[in-house]
Amino acid sequence: MSKASASLPDKPGPQSGQRARPGLYGRSKGKTLSPKQKSLIQDFLPTLGLPEGEIDPRAIWSDADQIWVEIGMGGGEHFVAQAAANPDQQLIGFEPFQNGMAKTLNTVERRGVRNVSLTMGDARLTLSRFVAGSVDRIFILYPDPWPKRRHWKRRLIQPGFVQEVSRLCRVGAEVRFVSDIAHYQQAALWQFLQNPDFVWTAESCADWQTAPNDHTTTKYEQKAFREKRTPAYLHFEKRAV
Ligand SMILES: C[S@@+](CC[C@H](N)C(=O)[O-])C[C@H]1O[C@@H](n2cnc3c(N)ncnc32)[C@H](O)[C@@H]1O
Repeated sequence: MSKASASLPDKPGPQSGQRARPGLYGRSKGKTLSPKQKSLIQDFLPTLGLPEGEIDPRAIWSDADQIWVEIGMGGGEHFVAQAAANPDQQLIGFEPFQNGMAKTLNTVERRGVRNVSLTMGDARLTLSRFVAGSVDRIFILYPDPWPKRRHWKRRLIQPGFVQEVSRLCRVGAEVRFVSDIAHYQQAALWQFLQNPDFVWTAESCADWQTAPNDHTTTKYEQKAFREKRTPAYLHFEKRAV
């Protein structure tokens, strides 16, 4: 066994203070990682991690114009494209699935993208250590839909999570939620509309039926198109209450 595989964790984390906890569902491992992928996770990922304790991203990246977060970035297609297209912003990505993280790391390395931080694990654990009002934009693209009613409680978008998103966001910050599952689209819209801290910015159907100009498609979006499902692009703004 190589040095890399000997010390790779079975579960996402612990990394940057991460710990496994009940409440994170879905896969953390898929196909066996190649030696190169193991090395990316063992050696490259820690160089992009976040500090222990309270995290003030604006203090860490004081040169960055804005702090953008992507939760569940999968293989990183959208995450890396945003980072490459916006070198003045700092992108912070979370993904517990190690094959997705390995793919993202590979693209980050190949493209030489510098303005990124990556954490392998449950975003909620690390984001709870972010100082309030420290994030300018949050992307949540195709979160696991958990279509069976008895699994809805596993969904990321819950009232408590929306409140936590509000805590993280500065006034004027944007939250972009995308899903191809009609019930989750409706449920997420309802949850954000129920929270007085957010306004839904759509003014016409086109605003939520059409991807924004700076959107980059993802693996799950391509799957949705192939299977003839229609995504909804829901954008919310944190307002001063
Ligand atoms: C359906 S996939 C979509 C991936 C990607 N956004 C895309 O569009 O291709 C949902 C992703 O969210 C990740 N995920 C689930 N719960 C998470 C959490 N609490 N924190 C961070 N990522 C999470 C999963 O591991 C999975 O990769």
